[in-house]
Amino acid sequence: MSEQVKTRVEKEHRIIGNQEAAPAAGFARNDHPGAQWFNGAGLGLFIHYGLSALDGTIELSWGLKCPGPHSYDRVTCGEWGHAMLPRRYWAMAKDFRAENFNPGKWLAAAKRAGFRYAVLTTRHHDGFALWPSDCGNFSTKNHLQGRDLVGEFVAACREHDLKVGLYYSGPDWYYLQDYTSFSFSPDVELGIDFQPEKRRPLTEAVQKDFRAYLHGQLTELLTRYGKIDLLWFDGSIDGAMSHQEMRALQPGMVFNTRGLGYGDFRCCETYFPKERMPPEQWFECCHVFTEGAWGYMKSECYRPIGWFCYELSRIRAWGGNLLINMGPQADGDMPAIAYRRLEEIKGWMDQYSDSVSGVEPGPWPERANVPVTIKGNVFYLHAHWRTDFPLELMDVDRPQAVQLFDGTPLPFTYQNRQLKFVLPWEHNHHTTDVVKVIFQDRQK
Ligand code: GLC
Repeated sequence: MSEQVKTRVEKEHRIIGNQEAAPAAGFARNDHPGAQWFNGAGLGLFIHYGLSALDGTIELSWGLKCPGPHSYDRVTCGEWGHAMLPRRYWAMAKDFRAENFNPGKWLAAAKRAGFRYAVLTTRHHDGFALWPSDCGNFSTKNHLQGRDLVGEFVAACREHDLKVGLYYSGPDWYYLQDYTSFSFSPDVELGIDFQPEKRRPLTEAVQKDFRAYLHGQLTELLTRYGKIDLLWFDGSIDGAMSHQEMRALQPGMVFNTRGLGYGDFRCCETYFPKERMPPEQWFECCHVFTEGAWGYMKSECYRPIGWFCYELSRIRAWGGNLLINMGPQADGDMPAIAYRRLEEIKGWMDQYSDSVSGVEPGPWPERANVPVTIKGNVFYLHAHWRTDFPLELMDVDRPQAVQLFDGTPLPFTYQNRQLKFVLPWEHNHHTTDVVKVIFQDRQK
């Protein structure tokens, strides 16, 4: 991750109040049988959908903060990432039709490509709820004649046998518009016309009211749709719902750490963790297919498939899941490029899914110079596109064979418990190539 992106992500997290805290007394990671799927699920699809897609040149919610935090993306993506006056942004709700929002279409493609779960932004920081909520006045209840996009998403997940994940933002800049600064910088406060203005302080009474609103919406999400497998908080929910209550409503659900400061799994947002997590710590890296944005972005900004394959293999080599994001366009369908990428992922998974599904983490980088996963007595070595150095594995027995997935054997050298081989140029592609190292016995 570039320094620029890192600074922006850190700044965003400060604004929305993401933080890590020691688990509260009585919290233990969910050991309910219905929650164990998360560990090793491998691949999830993140979907950021909301009002910003109607404009198509601003980031979801962050387009409400001035100056647009993502403006550096102009280098690669044209006039993108600027700010829009809140009243204009929110007025887009009246044109929101979601006429081609048919989650079954993209979820079917994701399922074919090997995805195991999906997470939809039910309400992002901009405050617009994608289900007809009885709390507040800014949801599909007021704007889409009560259509329930969350319900449609949940039904499609079930139909395609994907675990159901709901994203929910703690902050709500619409509900708290009189108290929110629309500046992206903490040094100056801006009102809803982007005029410098000291915002009203949040009184205890307003906070109480807001917590009741969050509690009401969360209760709807956790009671209206049957089993929810994952709740993906973004930003502090200020204790609006306790973990005990969540467990009572959804005993088999996992939730991330961002709402309460602790939870069942940790997230690394758009970066690979600096250090390995302890083996008992479940984790997920969420990442964007479109450089620099979560909401809809035009096709030119999609990263190549080679980037994705390597990201997936190194996250799996450390035992985490990859939650990869794509943003539907205004009408709710995905842009053609998203289907193309899902098809490419399917192509890679058809060949190599064994190396990333049902595997254990491997000894990389300690004893290998490329990401490794393990299944039984097989080590899978992942060579990033056009790897031009010999692949090495240290402190192992002499393997029975080193081979490509089609069975082609590769010559290797073995000395002092060290294995070395070269991936011939003709087998070295523009995605990640995987080589199997087969041992007689399971290695330590
Ligand atoms: C950040 C951003 C938010 C995005 C989330 C996904 O917290 O504020 O826009 O939804 O990351 O990880």
